[in-house]
Amino acid sequence: MCGIIGYVGNKNAAEEVREGLFRLEYRGYDSAGAAIMDENGIISVVKKQGKVANLAPYLDDISGRIGIGHTRWATHGKPSDVNAHPHSSGKITVVHNGIIENYAELKSKLEACGERFFSQTDSEVAAKLINRNFKGDLLCALAETVKVLKGSYALMAICEGVSAIAVAKYRSSVILGYGDDEYFCASDEPALAGKCSSISVLEDGDLAYITPDGIEIYDDGMQQVIRDKRANTAAAQSLDLCGYPRYMLKELYETPAAVERTVKEFNAAAPKLREALRGINRIILLGCGTAYHAGLVGKRYFEAFARIPAECENAGEFRYKNPVVCEGAAVFAVSQSGETADTVEAARLARTLGAKVIAVTNAPNSALTRLADVVAPVAAGTEICVAATKSYTAQIACLYLCALTFAGEPLTCERAVALTKMPALCEKTLASVNTYSIANMCAGASGVYFLGRDVDYAVALEGSLKLKEVSYVPGEGYPAGELKHGTLALIDGKTVCVALVFDKNLAKKCENAVEQVLSRGGRAVVITNVVGVCASLKDRVRIISLPDCDKFLSPLISAVAVQKLAYETAAVLGRDPDKPRNLAKSVTVE
Ligand code: AGP
Repeated sequence: MCGIIGYVGNKNAAEEVREGLFRLEYRGYDSAGAAIMDENGIISVVKKQGKVANLAPYLDDISGRIGIGHTRWATHGKPSDVNAHPHSSGKITVVHNGIIENYAELKSKLEACGERFFSQTDSEVAAKLINRNFKGDLLCALAETVKVLKGSYALMAICEGVSAIAVAKYRSSVILGYGDDEYFCASDEPALAGKCSSISVLEDGDLAYITPDGIEIYDDGMQQVIRDKRANTAAAQSLDLCGYPRYMLKELYETPAAVERTVKEFNAAAPKLREALRGINRIILLGCGTAYHAGLVGKRYFEAFARIPAECENAGEFRYKNPVVCEGAAVFAVSQSGETADTVEAARLARTLGAKVIAVTNAPNSALTRLADVVAPVAAGTEICVAATKSYTAQIACLYLCALTFAGEPLTCERAVALTKMPALCEKTLASVNTYSIANMCAGASGVYFLGRDVDYAVALEGSLKLKEVSYVPGEGYPAGELKHGTLALIDGKTVCVALVFDKNLAKKCENAVEQVLSRGGRAVVITNVVGVCASLKDRVRIISLPDCDKFLSPLISAVAVQKLAYETAAVLGRDPDKPRNLAKSVTVE
């Protein structure tokens, strides 16, 4: 949930850490901090509540060749200077991403031994333990410490007078970067984009020791191991705003390319997937948030194209319900980051119960990728904005192809060819849709209710989540037919209903729902590509017309429209859609 960065090399570590923290900020932005070791082995720590920009000036006066940094999404203890990382004890200073589940018990024991705690964080326990275990060897002290930790951790520790960073990883991602006489350690690849030529990914239980001479990696039995080195393909330019005011808008405009790339990459992955799906008789889709909403669309693809019953569940619910899964089931675990704890653990559980796991992910080196039997690649490219945009549409494109593959269709079939036309329609939608005046209406509304049927309902859920997430305007997504079973009570002149209508056969039914809203004094917007829908209401309804396409492909354009509406609403209200309050991009804690 937080971002960590470490640097050992000849450049100014304070500068490298500062840059890394700006790049990792999307993982958490409640507070940030850094610890830099100077030439004499003395460590300076600075930490500040708020975004990295608050911390950045304090790094101007510090220099050294070794440094660690942290940007935080608070789990234990409110956002504050004192709860910000790094945390120190004696000669030791640490940064930590993850959750130490048994910290209360460890803290009591340490307090009984006379230790005093300054923060409310779970992480300070790790600093105290490493300090107590330190007998001259930093890596051994860290190895001893992690033996008693329960939970998840990506931990980096430095020690006064020791020219090294010791690292431990368990269920929180850590990658190592190899440059020219310089070495990095970070939570994810964007942090190292353009910084080093190769990277390796630590496995659960691994420890690493980074010195000016190189990196040594050890497994949980302290045996030295080799982890594959692969080319660092993350491009620094993907981190640029390229003239856009916000990443959300930039990434929204990257949707056509994301869908196109996903289709291309799927072709290469298809044979392996086809093989893995042989004999499968049950489909389960899992994900959280936006990825879960993509799964809901995917479920309809499996049902419609392969006529097989498919289930889609929230990953966090699935893993705690003692799920009924056995051999013959295929679990499509959908996750942009591939690091969402609930999704990764739900997939792991399904696999232990005998299911095949297919990772539908944008992150080729993620935990989800590593545990999956097969990867169905989502090639959306780096997504920095906390609110998912292009990754959602690319996930839908990927699931569409997965369902066709499962149905035994070749990638030259009519449906697959129709998908290849969608990037152009996404582009057309981006160019033609003007949501500005509707955004003004939503910005002043007491509630915005998204309505739809079938796949439109799945997109309605996503439209509602997106709007809430970036603008803080409350609302919900509902099946259009459900309105009259309760939600209608909420409708008044201050509310707005956004109806999504992309199925000609259901258009009349959706029109009824819109009429019900209007007759209760509510305001309505219809996003549609069905000609003539709501024609009789057109003086009372705002209509956004999108290009014609098959109803199963319409989520690729209706999503673009609702995402644009959410962005514009946030802009009207002056919110930062890239870093909404209280959120972070990858939720690596439960
Ligand atoms: C999307 O806008 C949200 N920020 C959030 O719901 C996100 O989709 C969810 O946390 C799942 O993330 P993942 O795709 O990386 O697993």
